[in-house]
Amino acid sequence: MKCRVCGQPASISLRAYNTALCADDFVFFLERRVSDTIKKYHLIDKDDTPVVAVSGGKDSLSVWHILNRQGHKADGVYVDLGIGEYSRESLEKIKKTAETLQCKVFVFHIRNTFGRGIDEIAKATRRVPCSACGMIKRYVMNKVCIDKNYNVLITGHNLDDEAAALMGNLLYWKEEYLWKKSPLLEGHEGHLSRKVKPLFLCSEREMAAYALISGIDYIYEECPFSLHAKSLTYKRILNSLEENSPGTKLQFIKGYLKMIKGTEEAPKNITYCSSCGYPCYGDKCNMCRLLDRFHIGNKIDFDVYG
Ligand code: AMP
Ligand code: FES
Ligand code: ZN
Repeated sequence: MKCRVCGQPASISLRAYNTALCADDFVFFLERRVSDTIKKYHLIDKDDTPVVAVSGGKDSLSVWHILNRQGHKADGVYVDLGIGEYSRESLEKIKKTAETLQCKVFVFHIRNTFGRGIDEIAKATRRVPCSACGMIKRYVMNKVCIDKNYNVLITGHNLDDEAAALMGNLLYWKEEYLWKKSPLLEGHEGHLSRKVKPLFLCSEREMAAYALISGIDYIYEECPFSLHAKSLTYKRILNSLEENSPGTKLQFIKGYLKMIKGTEEAPKNITYCSSCGYPCYGDKCNMCRLLDRFHIGNKIDFDVYG
């Protein structure tokens, strides 16, 4: 198999695009797709001050790397969930990337604030870890944007993540989420930052290849609490469809994007938390309630590295 661009031996075949590429041309191809996605969906402007939500995995470290290579100087934010070696190793990889990119990274250590890790918080509040974790992550990422003056929050959600989430929302007709899978979610001035997903059209396999070829040192393990998540089953099903009909995942997501026309409106008729100003339904947001539950004042501190 030869590279479609230069004729050298190909390193990766991309059946969804009916092509094969060598390592260098693949890197060019993938970075180009990210910059095209950013332009087409107006995700990041040259005057924006973006920050990347980094987990230590291949997607978020790669998007951090790509944005900085493309001149969007972006710092990082990491939520340390206090899950033993998994969280420690993730932080090490993130600090190393921050050093390479010469960027700052803001770190929120759940244990420093709550005196316990995400599993114990989940038990105490009778939630599953991923639900408590999602709420805390969303809050903390937004807090960094508002407090430290970043106007766009970037996440590493890829094509497989989005297709799996869309499939789950369709299967259970979760109407409240069904139309909220756009690559751009508008914010509320002073309360909620804009959120964007530049890897929306890049598959998991492409991102793994990109990270490997670019020498990005990421954590291979998944969060131990996510191993039985339904999304993994949906990803497997979508991959077997893809195996039979290459391009299925792209068609699924692109067709959906056409229907929603790219941009999701920020929720209307929303109120703001009386304690911290975060958008919420009711008087207090879930994070402030959680802090109250453990008798912790409304103080979210970050460590800063880099
Ligand atoms: P996941 O939901 O684990 O697939 O992660 C989706 C995206 O959320 C990642 O690509 C990151 O951008 C972000 N993210 C996940 N976990 C964290 C974390 N602990 N700290 C900061 N960002 C995260
Ligand atoms: Fe949220 Fe694991 S508990 S990523
Ligand atoms: Zn609040």
